[in-house]
Parts: sequence; C-alpha cells; structure tokens
Amino acid sequence: MLLINSESESEIKIIEKIAKKKNVVVNIGIRLNPNTDANTLKQISTGKKENKFGVDEKTFLKLVSILRTSKNIKLKCLSVHIGSQITDHKPYEKMLKAVDKIINKAKFNFEYIDLGGGMGISYEKNQKKLNYKKYKSAIEKFLRRNNSKLIFEPGRSIIGNTAILISRVIYLKESSKKIFVILDAGMNDMMRPALYGAKHQILPAFKNKKKSKKSYEFVGPICETTDKFLSVSNFNKLKERDLIFISDVGAYGSSLSSNYNIRPKPSEILINKSKVTILKKRQKLEDII
Ligand SMILES: Cc1ncc(COP(=O)(O)O)c(C=O)c1O
Repeated sequence: MLLINSESESEIKIIEKIAKKKNVVVNIGIRLNPNTDANTLKQISTGKKENKFGVDEKTFLKLVSILRTSKNIKLKCLSVHIGSQITDHKPYEKMLKAVDKIINKAKFNFEYIDLGGGMGISYEKNQKKLNYKKYKSAIEKFLRRNNSKLIFEPGRSIIGNTAILISRVIYLKESSKKIFVILDAGMNDMMRPALYGAKHQILPAFKNKKKSKKSYEFVGPICETTDKFLSVSNFNKLKERDLIFISDVGAYGSSLSSNYNIRPKPSEILINKSKVTILKKRQKLEDII
C-alpha cells in the first residue's frame, strides 16, 4: 500500500492510534479543500468550502506542523479532488494555484501530489470537452515549481463511455402533451438522472423511419416522481416491448445501482470484439429476499 489519503483531523488521530498500537509507520496524504469551484453539477462538486470534503487551508497547515514530529505517521502526500465531470480547464488551473500557494506556506516537501480525477466526458453531441492540452500545460507549469511525483485518480474518463443499459418498453401511456415510455429499467438500475438530474442520451435499439409526433418521456416503473430518465422529441416511433438503450452508463451506473424497491439488478455483459463474457448474472428475486 502506498498511502492513506485522509479527510480530517479525527481520521488522522485514529490512524495514528492504530499505527502506534501496531508499532508501525503509516504513510498518509491529507486532502486539501482548495475552495475551488469546479464549474460542474453542484451535486458532484467537492472542492468548495461548503463541501464536506478535505480540510481547509488553516487545518491543513496545522496538521502538517503536528505531523512533522509524529513517530507513527509519515506525511507523504497532498491530495485534492475538486469534483467530477469537469469540462473546463480553468478550475484545474485555479486548483493548481491553490495547491502551489499552500505548499509554499507549509514549507513541506511532499513526495506525492495527488490531483484526483474529475476529467469530464461527452454525454451529448456537441458537448464541451475538457481541453487536455491546457490542463497539461498548467500541470507542467506547476511541476516547474514543485518536484513531487504526481498521482491521478481518473474514473469516469476511463470507463464512462464504454457501457449502455439496454431496457425494454413495458407500456406506452399517452397524455395530452406527451407520451410516457415506461421502461423495465428504473432509477435503482441507473441513478444519475434521479440523483443529479444528469442527462444520458437514449437511442432506439432498432431504427425505423417513423417519428413520434408527441415527445417521449422515458421513465422507470418505480413509484417515485424522480424515476425519470429523459424527455426527447422526434424520437423513432416506439411500440410496447421494443428495446432502447441508455448511453454512457459505464461510470456511476452499476456502482450506484441498488435493490431499491426490492428490484433485482440486471446482468452485466462485457463485449470485447467478438468475445462475450457474463460479468454478473441477472439477480433473482430470491437472491435479495
Ligand atoms: C477522491 C476521488 N478521486 C477520484 C474520483 C474519480 O472521479 P472521476 O470519476 O470524476 O474521475 C472520485 C469520485 O468520486 C473521488 O471521490
């Protein structure tokens, strides 16, 4: 194990207590809350002072000073992670400036600087993309002043675009203004729209030339108003039992899924060229009750 990134003074005290009891030295990092707005959904923003993550500058400096003399804890890393689905390089520039400032104040040589993840992906056509070249040049500038090793924690940017959720239309229910498309997938299978208002493109599994005159509102079958995926106009005309897919569910799709409403989870299938592997079998009701 390289190190434990800690989030608070109390957590560090516990690590120290356990390390002392076991008579070992534990490498840790401290997560700084750099009070930087990530310009992303507020629900996945983690680097502003009102967010619970990390410690503020004052606490950070206090902890660095205390840990200089600790016998059982070796401070190795400063970590930051200001949020997820970041598509603008400017918050990263601000974050790096804040990190630079605090390193100067702390006068401490961190072996590692952990810059977290957060690199955004495209969920919709023409969506703004993170300018990696600009992020890279901000990092290079930072490295000219600091010779620490960098750690990244990319999540969504590696796997977000790699998966789809296939779902069957159970019912079509027409109202005066729209048609509700009731799917057999619900918010328990894919929680991002209900939890964050996130938008995932929905596409028909088989295209036809007819378009629906009324807009479709794709919803799940769960008794919650937030059990809703997306509203789309000009969608391919659908019939009950047709298949659709919800796009880009590779990150925070399966990992946020649950058995809410006693709903068994779907199976997960990996397709690698022509090789098909079942990663998780479809759950049965008996598996969860
Ligand atoms: C501390 C930390 N690092 C990295 C990540 C990964 O973020 P992303 O998937 O946006 O790259 C997360 C996500 O919650 C996180 O909490």
